[in-house]
Amino acid sequence: MIRRYLIANWKMQLGVAESEALARDELAACGKMNEGIIVVICPSFPAIERVGKICKDSYCFLGAQDLFWEERGQYTGEVSSRMLKELGVRYVIVGHSERRQHLGETDEMVNRKVRRALSAELIPILCVGETRAEREAGQRDAVVERQVRAALADVRIKEKDKLVIAYEPVWVIGSGQAVAPEDAVRSHAVIRRVAAKLFPPAFKGGRIATIYGGSVNSTNIAGFMKRPEIEGALVGGASLNAKEFALVVSKVRQTVLRKKTP
Ligand code: PGA
Repeated sequence: MIRRYLIANWKMQLGVAESEALARDELAACGKMNEGIIVVICPSFPAIERVGKICKDSYCFLGAQDLFWEERGQYTGEVSSRMLKELGVRYVIVGHSERRQHLGETDEMVNRKVRRALSAELIPILCVGETRAEREAGQRDAVVERQVRAALADVRIKEKDKLVIAYEPVWVIGSGQAVAPEDAVRSHAVIRRVAAKLFPPAFKGGRIATIYGGSVNSTNIAGFMKRPEIEGALVGGASLNAKEFALVVSKVRQTVLRKKTP
């Protein structure tokens, strides 16, 4: 079955009341959802509970933008999987480049978070991608491969587990200029090759999905969705406007419907 993920990453852009209002507007604007599209909204921590109440009983899943790798303890400021689950969170972004860049998150920390998320039965949305300098130095494939391998070291994917891996070239995030779909496909191939080696049955069984992120909007989403390897998108800026996000959703819906028709 065709399955497409649309993950809205609201980052630190909205207050709690604004998040609540946007969640209502997006649900209203997106209309009834089709089978095969999985929409996940990832608000900031303080807004999770209120956005969760709005998403409950809708087709939208609740996501978080991060988690900590321990369940409880003396870790000032951190949020555990246990807390997230209490609020109805199902998905969690791990290793976003903004955290790697501004908060010093290392491959090893990302790995601990992925393992914690899976053991708590949360679905990790693992972000990987090269910086502009790395790409210019001809290291893009090597960086993506290293990040995937490091993040998945000692990870076991069980029958019920799911994992989403997002290729996000760091230098296009928030730039307004996405890479071309064929360019993204190249890194998807790297991710899929590495993941297939690490988890052959899980990968074939559809328990791992690969998606693209970086300046996705209603104008370019269709190009990405035409490529079978790109199983969805992580959307930042374009998810902050209900009309624009609804347009993105409707373009994804068209792809899913078209692919279903013989
Ligand atoms: P963007 O962000 O769509 O605003 O480029 C994507 C992301 O960082 O996940």
